[in-house]
Amino acid sequence: MIKVAVLVSGGGTNLQAIIDAKAAGIINNAEISLVISNKPTAFALERARKAGIEARCIAPSEFETREEFNEALIRTLDETGIDLVVLAGFLVIIPEKMVAKYTNKIINIHPSLIPSFCGTGYYGLRVHEKALERGVKVTGATVHFVDEGTDSGPIILQKTVAVKDDDTAESLQLRVMEEAEWKILPEAIELIASDRVKILNGRVKVI
Ligand code: GAR
Repeated sequence: MIKVAVLVSGGGTNLQAIIDAKAAGIINNAEISLVISNKPTAFALERARKAGIEARCIAPSEFETREEFNEALIRTLDETGIDLVVLAGFLVIIPEKMVAKYTNKIINIHPSLIPSFCGTGYYGLRVHEKALERGVKVTGATVHFVDEGTDSGPIILQKTVAVKDDDTAESLQLRVMEEAEWKILPEAIELIASDRVKILNGRVKVI
């Protein structure tokens, strides 16, 4: 059983999907050991506590320097013996030191089909606004490993979602979550926990 930490900043619907997948037996080989938020008001913290999961807030404002915040984040993961870090709407740049220490042990959910609508500045609703602006007919979500870049690590799973003529950014965001994010994120966790994800030449192979 691998130990997972879920890092969040907001509502935590992806965290909820992971909690529900664990309860439903979709996730069998991983336990959610810890939830960390950078914001004390994140509703995700309440979701974690309600599910009996240890929930902590580590906010940059509590530290004198960014370096100290980074160290606290890494120390907390180390102390809990975390095997896999899941970024589920965590809107903090992951320190290089953490990427180096947890190479191929950090995954992120992004609400588009990478490499479209990703990179610096593309998060949350803005991703869907840009997709609608461009007039794409298909969008979706991506789970990928985190490397030193932004949304640039090896892709694990992707799922497409059709764009409707009358979509707003909000309606598209919700459908991408319901049809793609909440499915592929728990699926990716279970694949990794079952040792079925291999990286060869920067590309993921699911065995
Ligand atoms: C999700 O849509 C996730 O894909 C997105 O933030 C939202 C968090 O919602 N992440 C990014 O945009 C990362 N670049 P949630 O707190 O309800 O899970």
